[in-house]
Amino acid sequence: MTRVGVLASGGGTNLQAILDACGAGGAAGSRAARRIDAEVAVVLCNVPGAGALERARKAGVPAELVPSKGVADRAAYDATLVERLRHSRVDLVCLAGFMRLITPGFLAAFGADAASNGCPRVMNIHPGLLPSFPGLHAQRQALDYGVRFSGCTVHFVDAGCDTGPVIVQAVVPVLAGDTEETLAARILAEEHRIYPQAIQWFAEGRLSVEGRRVTVRGARPAEARGLSNPSLDR
Ligand code: GRF
Repeated sequence: MTRVGVLASGGGTNLQAILDACGAGGAAGSRAARRIDAEVAVVLCNVPGAGALERARKAGVPAELVPSKGVADRAAYDATLVERLRHSRVDLVCLAGFMRLITPGFLAAFGADAASNGCPRVMNIHPGLLPSFPGLHAQRQALDYGVRFSGCTVHFVDAGCDTGPVIVQAVVPVLAGDTEETLAARILAEEHRIYPQAIQWFAEGRLSVEGRRVTVRGARPAEARGLSNPSLDR
C-alpha cells in the first residue's frame, strides 16, 4: 500500500477526492470502497482554518497545521515538512492546492530511486494545460487569453513553478459565458478524476520517466480523433 502525504493550503476538494479513492472518504460509517492501492498517511497544511484540515479530521486521517506565514527561511520550513512526512513513512507526496514553492532540499528528500521506478516522489495538480498558464489564477489566465480549451495537469514536481514532467492531462472546453468560477468548477471535476488515477499508476509501479516524458505502462491511449471547440459544422 502506497503511503501518501498530502500538502494543502485551501478547501481540500482534491484531498477529498484522494481520501474517497482510498476509501477513507467521510465520517466513519459512510466510507466508500477503496479504489486505489494507497492510503493517506498524513495531511499537512500551512494555512490555519483551511478546509483541508477539517476534511482530514472527518476522515480520521492524521493532520497537522504547520503555519508558514512570516516564516522567512524556506529551507528550514521545508525541513520541518520533510521531518513530518518521514515520521509518517510517506512514499509519495501529493501537493493538492499547496500554495508554496517546494525547495530543492525537500525534492531531494523525496527524489527518484529504484523502488519508485526512477520517478520523483512528489506530484502536483495544476488547473491548466501546462505549459500554458502556469502559476496563480490559471483559469483566469485561460479566459483572458481566449483559448477554446483548458483543463488540468498532474505532473511530477521539479524546482520550477509547474514545470515538472507531465503524467496526465484532462481537457475541458471553455464555453461562451464562462466566468472564472464556472470554468474552475468544470476543471475541478476533472482534477478529482485524474489525481487519484495518477496516484494509482504510481502505486502500481506503472510510471517511468525519460527526460521530460512520462510513460504510463499499459494505459489506454486517448481517442486519436481530435476535438474542436466550437464543434465543426460538419
Ligand atoms: C485546485 O484547482 C488545484 O489544481 C490548485 O489549487 C486548487 C485547490 O483546490 N493547485 P482544492 O483545495 O483541492 O479544493
